[in-house]
Parts: sequence; structure tokens; C-alpha cells
Amino acid sequence: MDKFLIKGGKALRGAVAISGAKNSALPAMAAALLTADKVVVRNVPKVRDLVTMSKLLAFMDAKVSVAAVPASDYEIQAPKLNHAEAPYELVRTMRASILTLGPLMARVGVARVSLPGGCAIGARPVDLHLKALEQMGRGRQLKGAHIVFEKITVTGTENILMAAALAEGETVLENAAREPEVTDLVGMLRKMGAEICGEGTSTLRIRGVKELHGTEHTVIPDRIEAGTFLIAGAITGGDLTIHNCMPAHLGAVIAKLQQARVRIDVVDATTARVRGAEKLVAADVTTEEYPGFATDMQAQYMALATQAEDTSVITETIFENRYLHASEMVRMGANISINGREAVVRGPAQLTGTTVQASDLRASAGLVLAGLVASGETLIDRVYHIDRGYEGIVEKLKAVGAHIERVHAPGS
Ligand code: UD1
Repeated sequence: MDKFLIKGGKALRGAVAISGAKNSALPAMAAALLTADKVVVRNVPKVRDLVTMSKLLAFMDAKVSVAAVPASDYEIQAPKLNHAEAPYELVRTMRASILTLGPLMARVGVARVSLPGGCAIGARPVDLHLKALEQMGRGRQLKGAHIVFEKITVTGTENILMAAALAEGETVLENAAREPEVTDLVGMLRKMGAEICGEGTSTLRIRGVKELHGTEHTVIPDRIEAGTFLIAGAITGGDLTIHNCMPAHLGAVIAKLQQARVRIDVVDATTARVRGAEKLVAADVTTEEYPGFATDMQAQYMALATQAEDTSVITETIFENRYLHASEMVRMGANISINGREAVVRGPAQLTGTTVQASDLRASAGLVLAGLVASGETLIDRVYHIDRGYEGIVEKLKAVGAHIERVHAPGS
């Protein structure tokens, strides 16, 4: 298994370009199953989850053409879906495989998708996806329905959007997710001929059509990768210009970092600049659905909070067990105590490098950030988690001055 070796203490300076959003590319690829025509998805990040998704589509008999794997442009054509099935071996490695359920139900009427099961950060059931799809019926033709989600679910919203696009009649989805990735999917589906309105609000209306057609779609920039680099610049006291991002999608993160006295300038619609503060100060954070502060930025923010003067209280409201990085940061010298959904971080703490374990994708990013500011060497084990979702993180960090190496362990 690969590891990262980081020598901390270097201020990051220069420019970094953000890749396409993993969480937009995944539903975009799944949406290609909704038509027999060719669909081209561009700006796909070169990360393991997208390779898994392409394998899943190929398993279902979709033709997936790429120049080389991993790729940033995928051509997908699914004239006939002979295996409306997502096997456990693939679902096990990527929960987002559930995104094929909506398109398969819409196109074939039946589908077998293995249940993803729990993961490190929580139970993560898919009961709301199933309940909503059940309301739309099964068999050859799904029917529009009035669906009210009990809880906001991002991939649940995406599954229903895709299923409803080909259902008979109108679907109204209330308490829908408002994430930019949902809006991106609506844009793509509309180009395929879907009739949808209300994106960006919590009520979506979808009038089903008989057929969807092919399209070309460029996915939006990854706001979580951009946020991670904002914190990398801030925590190291550096000066980073972040290109190909959408500061408009980073409102809550930028506001919180500014509250912690990080200097951030929105240069234009696709560029932001971050400069480290003279002195970072504590600022409390509560994770929320978009447009609130993303749970996917919580671990990275915790790394920053260890360096801020005074006490920051972090409250995680989306997932029940998303503090696995905290004990690793404590082993590096951080002062963090966890009480249920609340983490109390007392700073500033001098972090010292040691060997730490990555437990999930965003926790790994938090540990990388802690390693960048720690004295001495930090060895991060199980970085396959980070490879699921960050394109070329080692190369991008090195290009702005970080001392970070990927260590290939024998047998990996
Ligand atoms: C998506 C993102 C993930 C992000 C998360 C929350 C993708 C591929 N992944 O995950 O990076 O961390 O949104 O922003 O886009 N829930 C239920 N029943 C359901 C579905 C969800 O109880 O049927 C609960 C979950 O356990 C969780 C909360 O709802 O507590 C939100 O989860 P959800 O928005 O569904 O997360 P994902 O779509 O899996």
C-alpha cells in the first residue's frame, strides 16, 4: 500500500489548477445510461472512483471509450443494457455505484444494485433512494410521483432526477439537495432533452419525456479540492493562486476562513488567491447541507483549527462518525476532544510528524494538511483513500513547494 512522506514547515507559494468535481463526474457518467446515444463527459478528474464508475458502466454493456485510463474525457454509449446490475465487488469499493440505480430503473424497469453497506464515517443507508423509487413503481414504465425526502440526500436527489427524467408524467421532489453538483446534473439532463425546473432550490419539478438523447458535458470544478488548497495555503502561511475553481461555490468556506483571519481574494469568477494570516484565530464551524459549510471540508478545517489561537468548536451534523482523523491529529500533538457530534479544538498546537493512518477520503486530506505544518516527517499510511478523490495531489502540492513524496510500498 502506498504511503505519503511529508516534511512539514514549508510555506506553499505559486499557482494550482483545480480538476473536475468527482461528485459531479460520477452522476454525469451514470446519466449516460439514460440514452442509447453517445454521451461525452469532459473534465473528469483522474481519480480511482471514476475508473471504478467506468468499469461499472462497461459491466452493464455500455461502450466506454477513453484515450487511456485514467482519462479526463469519456465517451459512453449504452444502446442496450444487458446487465442491469451493479455487483458487490464494485459497489464495495465505491458507494456512489448507487447512482446507477435511478438510470437503470428508468431505462430497464428493474435493476439489481448491491447495497453499499456502512463505511468508516457512518451507516450511510440508501433507504430514502429506495423508498422514493418505490413510489415511482417498477416494471417497464416508472410513473411520476410526489416525493418528500425526510432528510436531504445528495445522491438520492440525483437518482430521482435521473429516474424521473424518463418517467411517465410529472415528479415533484421536495426537500431536494441544492448542491452545485445537483445543479450540474440538471444542466446535463436538460441538454439531453429532460424537462426539469427548480435546480438550486429545495423543490425540483421533472416532467418525464419518452426519450433522452446524447450530449457533451463538461463537469464543474471540484469545490472540495479547491477548499483543500485554500486551507493548504492558509495553514502553511503561504500565497497560493487557485485557478479553474468556482469561488461562487465556496461561499461558506471562504467566509469561515476569513473569520479565522485568512486573507482570501476572489480574483475573478474562476480564480481565488489565499494568503496566510499573521495569526490564525479560532472560528466555530457547523457542517450543513449546501449552501452551508460542507462536511467534506470538516477534516481539513480541523487541521487549520489546530493552528488557530483559542478554542474552535466543530459540530458535524451530516455523518455520525466523521472524526476518525482527530485521534491521528492528537497523536501529532493537537489538542482535540470529541464529545458526540462536537469536536473542541484548542490551539495553537505545535504538531510533530509521526506515522498516521488515513481512514477515509477527506480524513486523508486533513492529515496531509496537518503534515504540511508539522515539524519533522509525517508518514501517512493507506493513502489509497485519497487516490479515490484527489487528482495528482502529490504533484500539485510539490509544484507549489511542498516536500511530499509518494512511497511505493512493496506488493502494491
Ligand atoms: C454525497 C457526497 C459526499 C458528501 C455527502 C454529504 C457524492 C458521490 N458523495 O454523499 O461526498 O459527503 O453527499 O454532502 O456526491 N441518508 C439516509 N438515507 C438515505 C440517504 C442518506 O439516512 O437514503 C443520510 C446519510 O446517512 C447522511 C445524510 O443522509 O447522514 C446525507 O447523506 P447524503 O447526502 O445521501 O450523502 P451521499 O449522497 O451518500
